[in-house]
Amino acid sequence: MRTQVGIVGAGPAGLFLAHMLRRDGIDCVILESRSREYIEKRVRAGVLEQATVKLMHELGAGERLTREGMPDPRIDIRFSGGHIIVDLNELTPGKIVTVYGQQEVVKDLIAAWIARGGTIEFEAEALGFDGLNSERPSIRYRQNGREDTIECDFIAGCDGFHGVSRRAVPENILTHYDRIFPFGWLGIVAEARPLHEMTYANHEHGFALASRRGPHIARNYVQCAPDEDLARWPDARIWEELHLRLKDQGKSELGEGRILQKAVTPVRAYVTSPMQYGRLYLAGDAAHIVPPTGAKGLNLAAADVWVLARAFSEFFRTGLHMRLDRYSEVCLKRVWKAVRYSSYLTSLLHRFEQHTPFERKLQLTELEYLLGSKAARTTIAENYVGLPFQDD
Ligand code: FAD
Ligand code: PHB
Repeated sequence: MRTQVGIVGAGPAGLFLAHMLRRDGIDCVILESRSREYIEKRVRAGVLEQATVKLMHELGAGERLTREGMPDPRIDIRFSGGHIIVDLNELTPGKIVTVYGQQEVVKDLIAAWIARGGTIEFEAEALGFDGLNSERPSIRYRQNGREDTIECDFIAGCDGFHGVSRRAVPENILTHYDRIFPFGWLGIVAEARPLHEMTYANHEHGFALASRRGPHIARNYVQCAPDEDLARWPDARIWEELHLRLKDQGKSELGEGRILQKAVTPVRAYVTSPMQYGRLYLAGDAAHIVPPTGAKGLNLAAADVWVLARAFSEFFRTGLHMRLDRYSEVCLKRVWKAVRYSSYLTSLLHRFEQHTPFERKLQLTELEYLLGSKAARTTIAENYVGLPFQDD
């Protein structure tokens, strides 16, 4: 097989990239190690920035998003001192976020890709690359027990944090920046009435978050140990902690119901630099992960490949590689802003065992300040709705 851009991974990064390239007349092939069914069911992020929503529409994949996406014009932050309402619409005029599950984005992009005759190979695992420093790099992959090769002009490593792409870059080229927070998130999906808006909580027992996936589907999280044993969290304890931490004293706001899924996610910030090596370009979680508190992971993946698609288009149209050369530098500026913001929100909203009484007071004072300061709430809002996608 031969293609212009070989894309490894059919997560948001790989799928958005494929659609943008195809729109610009560039041929590409997607290799995905898992089955279609598996990736369409994998529950992950759920908050789309306005620019990500716009991209779905521009790519002609936004029809179901318009029908089923849940616009969120405000977020609510609860703590012992009260409720902070961050009115996104007022503080960042005209901008909001939309709640729509990542697996729905993936489903819509795959359906549109296949409907347009795009090539995607499922259960095709990339094993490694050859000739990354040549003009004809190739991907070695295995499918149905057989090994094969795709020759490309460029390779996009969109294979997530545990993929092969980042590890294909020689160690002496990369710098890794890493911060592992001393807790995790226990996330559930439940057939239960959600809170009517995105609600974050800072509580003595730890962080909690009430999100949703539909009018009758709740997506809730509680802070837990990083290596939490799920056996310690029977359903009743999860609901008890959610009511308590979210200050739902009368247990009247947050509905309870059958828990469909329960899993622990680590809370971590990681960035690798640079995001390119020879003709291999890393995008999304393959290059960076952010703590989930800022809801930025999926949106950052979209922003990376937005820059990358423009750079590939410029190259194939004109032969110029200025944008390709600057890909990493341009993306990392935005990535670090998302890391900063997500780390700030994580520090603001979680319970840190190692906090001294002094540090806990400062955390609560920061929340008090947000409660009383429109300027402080504006910086939260500006980042939450998302910084612009830009390539300069
Ligand atoms: P991914 O979505 O990881 O896609 C990579 C794809 O590459 C996968 O489909 C994988 O199967 C495939 N792949 C891997 N290796 C190979 C290979 N060798 N060959 C071929 N294909 C390969 N963000 C939030 O904002 N909120 C959350 O609640 C949240 N929860 C998360 C929970 C988990 C368990 C994880 C892992 C992430 C979560 N995130 C969350 C982050 C968010 O989901 C990611 O930032 C987003 O998925 C990034 O998209 P991506 O396309 O870069 O990577
Ligand atoms: C989610 O809906 O899964 C979600 C919402 C907000 C976050 C993280 C995850 O900050």
